Amino acid sequence: MHTTAPITDTVHWVGVNDWQTTLFESLWPLPYGISYNSYLILDEQVALIDTVKEDCLECYLEKIQQLLPEEKGIDYLIVNHMEPDHSGAIGILKKFYPEMKIIGNKQTKRFLDGFFGITEDVQAVAEGETLDLGEHVLQFTMTPMVHWPETMMTYETGDKILFSGDAFGTFGALTGGVFDDEVQISWYEDETLRYFSNIVGKYSRMTQKALKKLDSIPLNVIASTHGPVWRRNPQRIVEIYDHWSRHKAEEGVTIVYGSMYGNTTRMMEAVARGISETGISNIYRHDVSVSHPSFVIRDVWRNKGIVLGGPTYDQGLFPSLASITDFLGHKELTGRVAGVFGNYGWSGGAVNTLSQFVENREWENVDPIVEVNCTPTSKDLEECRMLGRHLAERVGSP
Ligand code: FEO
Repeated sequence: MHTTAPITDTVHWVGVNDWQTTLFESLWPLPYGISYNSYLILDEQVALIDTVKEDCLECYLEKIQQLLPEEKGIDYLIVNHMEPDHSGAIGILKKFYPEMKIIGNKQTKRFLDGFFGITEDVQAVAEGETLDLGEHVLQFTMTPMVHWPETMMTYETGDKILFSGDAFGTFGALTGGVFDDEVQISWYEDETLRYFSNIVGKYSRMTQKALKKLDSIPLNVIASTHGPVWRRNPQRIVEIYDHWSRHKAEEGVTIVYGSMYGNTTRMMEAVARGISETGISNIYRHDVSVSHPSFVIRDVWRNKGIVLGGPTYDQGLFPSLASITDFLGHKELTGRVAGVFGNYGWSGGAVNTLSQFVENREWENVDPIVEVNCTPTSKDLEECRMLGRHLAERVGSP
């Protein structure tokens, strides 16, 4: 017997937990696992909404079979999103339920052919179209690039359940509880921000477009493809996504730095002291030789201030810091206030590269930019402290 969970008498969560995958998309760590959520609607016509990753197929099929009345098959598979964490099971599912018609949109058709060679029994729907299952009527809305071009959402009009795809999702598997009122939802906050900033954040503009479409729709339940189903307070996750996709931030500073022999660490500590002296206590420190970019991106998304510091290596930027700035640059985050410091032995390079990075983002670059030769002097450390103070003053201002 596998765990399923009723959202209503006829709408069921049939998702699976993945505790085995260590890196989502082979990029982003999953220290607490992840869930792939799928939903089964039992009606005159049976519909399944999204599937799961191929590795989780056996458990998933058993869940569906547990709930399906004996004489019933699956009439429709609604594909909100084709990334293989949700579409991986489609090929085999189609073999199990050959009568199953697949509902997507024009872009979905292209991916179904590309990933599975499926071209038959596929119906493309457009914005606002509906599908009548008997008691339940589903309405489709196109939300491209949240997170792929084919992404759409499906709204169950009677019970007002939004099957939202990746939007409103989170890292972190479901340990027993499936709904927001069954889990300690505050535990998920960091993982939700990490998921948003790592996966969806790059497409913030398109997320805002999607949120505008949802503005006028009553939502009793938000059923995403990852993490808890929101039924106690669905508006909460909508507000959080709105905040993050506007690139709004908290009054805090993320310090992202590297240090080979401790000199840059001393500079970092002086900067941090300067920040603290202004009364800001939200200081998140990431040593790039230790922190994975996934967690750095999360905290840079969280905080208005960012400090970038590192040594020069082979006339350029310390490679671990270069790697993180590369990851961060991909995310196209706007509206941050930045400070830059660094040092060098025989020739400079790091500070110029970091300043250029800040300029390319059109982030505000706070003075002074501190560049030190070898070991920082007391005067250098005082400059670092002033950098921290100036940055914090800008972070604290509206
Ligand atoms: Fe959860 Fe974009 O896939």
